[in-house]
Amino acid sequence: MFDLVLKNGVCLLNHPQNPKEIIEEQIDIGIKDGYIKEIGSLSKSSTAESLDCSNLHVLPGLIDSQVHFREPGLEYKEDIQHGTLSAIKGGITAVFEMPNTNPATMTREALDHKIQIAQKKSHCDFAFYLGAGKGNASQLNEIENRPFCCGVKLFLGNSTGNLAVDNEETLNIILKNRNRMTAIHSEDEQRLVSRKHLSEQKPLRAHNHPVWRDPESALISTKRIVGLARKYNTPLHILHISTKEEMEFLKDHKDLVSIEVTPQHLTLAAPDCYDRYASYVQMNPPIRDESHQKALWKAVTSGLVDTIGSDHAPHTKEEKEKPYPQSPAGMPGTQTLLPLMLNHLNQKRLDLKTLVKLLAYNPAKRFKIKNQGQIKVGYKAHFTIVDLKAKRKIESKWLASKCAWSPFEGWSVVGWPMVTILYGQPIVREDEVLSKDFLGQGIEFTDIST
Ligand code: DOR
Repeated sequence: MFDLVLKNGVCLLNHPQNPKEIIEEQIDIGIKDGYIKEIGSLSKSSTAESLDCSNLHVLPGLIDSQVHFREPGLEYKEDIQHGTLSAIKGGITAVFEMPNTNPATMTREALDHKIQIAQKKSHCDFAFYLGAGKGNASQLNEIENRPFCCGVKLFLGNSTGNLAVDNEETLNIILKNRNRMTAIHSEDEQRLVSRKHLSEQKPLRAHNHPVWRDPESALISTKRIVGLARKYNTPLHILHISTKEEMEFLKDHKDLVSIEVTPQHLTLAAPDCYDRYASYVQMNPPIRDESHQKALWKAVTSGLVDTIGSDHAPHTKEEKEKPYPQSPAGMPGTQTLLPLMLNHLNQKRLDLKTLVKLLAYNPAKRFKIKNQGQIKVGYKAHFTIVDLKAKRKIESKWLASKCAWSPFEGWSVVGWPMVTILYGQPIVREDEVLSKDFLGQGIEFTDIST
């Protein structure tokens, strides 16, 4: 007997003969004790409950591999409880959280402290990045093997916080003798410092942001870190790639490097976005002009891009209203990630199989997540069930983030997450959180030796 059967949905599954290929098939899914027990025609099977998924698509639970939840230390902007509530309402079932909190996540104690908070408060599955710096460079390969650590995060240029590493010797120590993934914020610190005056040119406005942090700042940094990764043959995951030049360069380095883009960079373009939203869309690396956006889309559809991460980076409205350049960089996004991408799908910019690769298969494979990211017998019963035809408006009352704003407020989209399921339990249905007490678990990785 099953605990739950998902009936009649169009499921995104592995091709039976070729597991690298994803197929869409109308089929039932039987769940027992939080795991997928059977996939097939289950209308006659006995089950405690069933969920009719007719006219809906059943996706593996989606993974947002870049969020900043600000806890501990900056809870006035966001915390793990609200950040993960935001994630599940947006159809996300697992998150990787970033180390630029206060204190920054640079030690075993800081990492374990975050895990303890998440075990009491996280509404979805979670893992945390360990920050890399001069002080911990030689201990990374030991601390990165703590349970529920997704890898190391290295800032090459300063963004929110003060974690940039620019010193060649430290970078060498960080990349040497590593076992796990290093995720990179790639902007060249020296160039950012030398061009800072350009952010202060008159008129003072967010339009200056991509002028200051120009494409060259990103490219120089990306070339430098890929060169170093080659030296030590260590894998990199370069976050929020924003330029056509980096995409062109990275084409030849896919054996070592995976690539993330964000929905913001795929959806907004300069100068129009700064005319409309000013500092609310100021982020690092910046949103650039349409020629870059086109190159990012080409990289998505050609398979060059591996993952989409939201870079959920909340700041309060008061902070974002400060005159540029005092306004901080970053915007919330984990809740709007899927609606925006489904809307792009409806506009024929990508298909559902590609989206499922970018948000489930690829992050799971690249980071070596155990038992999730696919609809497969024996895997965790995490699902994101979507209505590709639902028309909705993104409204502030729907947003669960503590900062409760989005540049996409008021946007109408086609395509919406209808049900979010974790461990076989529907926890969000038609925007309603069904169980505020539900807790996710730490994500397990197959490359951590226990
Ligand atoms: O714009 C950004 N804000 N980019 C980052 O990489 C960090 C983030 C933040 O933490 O606010």
